[in-house]
Amino acid sequence: MNPARPLFISVEGGEGVGKSTSIATLEAWLQRQRIDYCLTREPGGTPLAEKIRDLLLGIEDEPLAPAAELLLVFAARAQHLEQVIKPALARGEWVLCDRFTDATYAYQGGGRGLPQAHIATLEQQVQAELRPDYTLLLDAPVEVGLARANRRGELDRFESEQREFFERIRNCYLERAAAEPARFRIINTDRPLAEIGPELEAVMEDLLDRQKDD
Ligand code: TMP
Repeated sequence: MNPARPLFISVEGGEGVGKSTSIATLEAWLQRQRIDYCLTREPGGTPLAEKIRDLLLGIEDEPLAPAAELLLVFAARAQHLEQVIKPALARGEWVLCDRFTDATYAYQGGGRGLPQAHIATLEQQVQAELRPDYTLLLDAPVEVGLARANRRGELDRFESEQREFFERIRNCYLERAAAEPARFRIINTDRPLAEIGPELEAVMEDLLDRQKDD
């Protein structure tokens, strides 16, 4: 049962920052609190948006133009918002989303060098006023994240990029977090797992308290 307005929380970070483990911790916390929630991801989250995800992550002979990449990301998002995110919020469920539009600013803006203003225009068209209430930014030095991503095996189209690409992504995420401190919570994941879990839970407790005070 969710007493107050449901929260829309996104989880962000570069490659190999421990997103899957952190999301499992967050999901277990939501279940313990008996909060109704919808766990979803971007790009993806609906059958059609998952097909777009395959186009974005797969490695083809034909290079994907950065502008095409940007439009595909937002096409998937438009579908995901209408089919999954907005209906879940309307039902009173919290939405826990593995990446959202901050990833577009970081990857297509910071990483690929597309103008932030283009992204902002699409964000407005596709989302209108809808933004995550809170964004948990998992942060670790690029070399730590890339070492973890490499150990996972075969690399996707993004993971195959050069180190500088990931430095730009990390910087962009950190700049966005500094610019919007009320929305972002930065979690340092370059630490033992035993320390990260309790910090994530403390952050969620705090968000729940704030929501009750609203
Ligand atoms: P992940 O599920 O492992 O995070 O993979 C998704 C990939 O898609 C990741 O490399 C980041 C990338 N991505 C973008 O480039 N732009 C976006 O807007 C989103 C949501 C993801």
